[in-house]
Amino acid sequence: MGIYIPTTMADHWLKLLICVIALSSTKVNVRASEMVNITLLSNAVEKGAVCLDGSPAGYHYAKGYGDGANSWMIYLPGGGWCGRKQSCIDRVKYSPMLSSTKNITQENFGAILSPNKTSNPDFYNWNRVFIRYCDGSSFMGDVKKVDPETNLHKRGSRIFTSVIDELLSKGLKDAKNVMLTGNSAGGLATILNCDRFRALVPNANMVKCVSDSGFFIHAKNLPNAAGRERTFSRVVHFHGISKFLPKSCTSRMKPGLCFFPENLVAHIKTPLFLLNSDFDKFQVINLLIYFHFLDKLHLTPYSFTIWYSTPSNMDLVI
Ligand SMILES: *[C@@H]1O[C@H](CO)[C@@H](O)[C@H](O)[C@H]1NC(C)=O
Ligand SMILES: *[C@@H]1O[C@H](CO)[C@@H](O)[C@H](O)[C@H]1NC(C)=O
Ligand SMILES: *[C@@H]1O[C@H](CO)[C@@H](O)[C@H](O)[C@H]1NC(C)=O
Repeated sequence: MGIYIPTTMADHWLKLLICVIALSSTKVNVRASEMVNITLLSNAVEKGAVCLDGSPAGYHYAKGYGDGANSWMIYLPGGGWCGRKQSCIDRVKYSPMLSSTKNITQENFGAILSPNKTSNPDFYNWNRVFIRYCDGSSFMGDVKKVDPETNLHKRGSRIFTSVIDELLSKGLKDAKNVMLTGNSAGGLATILNCDRFRALVPNANMVKCVSDSGFFIHAKNLPNAAGRERTFSRVVHFHGISKFLPKSCTSRMKPGLCFFPENLVAHIKTPLFLLNSDFDKFQVINLLIYFHFLDKLHLTPYSFTIWYSTPSNMDLVI
């Protein structure tokens, strides 16, 4: 004989309570990613902290909480460079996401910026900032004059400084732990801006720079070293970057060569971590092989094509 348990109102309430607890516990910190609105830098145009097309610099900011409230991660995305008038004009025309904030509303925060505690246990509740890359110089250029004919603005360095300055007033000045990180051209920006960034957050106990796939090699013994040197020299000259490169490097070699991490990392004082595949797809295809053949065929690419690193080729640290 079975036992008959009557369904009472109390059972219903108990089930409902269990459901509510289950739902509310899944609501906390388990999102895979989140859409974060853009914040345009205040007084960006007056400050001259503007994108290639003259639109205001911008960033996406997710506020930290809990034990992450005083920790900050600043992320610099990738997107190649433009180092000549025509390639910068083309960038404005064909890659508005990398040259303007006019059409940008939100950014999807995933991976190291993810709010998911399970997949991103170290940083999910930090203050997380994604600075828009819209200058084409790895956040390094600053030329005051705007060419009236093209209306191109070259202000990457000013964007970086002005955004950090605004973040200082939003709590970054009281941060304990700070990490500057970035991928590809943003990974290079991380290396190039690392010590300058450290100086902007003097009160932080711990500041570290983590460059993902930003170690672009000159490697003078590999094919097409001259092509790689020319690429970076153009970026350095076009965006007026020489004055921001360490004197310890520019006193020894041409400024264009001081854009290559291999000539810089020994001079960086802030802790710097490099994450780079030996077989970085972008470098192998674009900088070792692609330009080699374009040079042979006397062709010029109008812009770079970017392949983002996948986790499978990010596991080698050099
Ligand atoms: C959070 O990350 C874990 C591990 O990657 C994953 O299993 C889970 O589905 C993610 N949560 C959401 C809401 O996507
Ligand atoms: C993000 O922007 C959208 C559209 O402007 C707005 O509806 C929404 O409230 C904003 N979200 C936050 C968190 O500010
Ligand atoms: C802005 O976005 C709209 C709609 O997605 C698109 O049609 C337009 O071409 C974009 N403009 C620029 C300058 O990117």
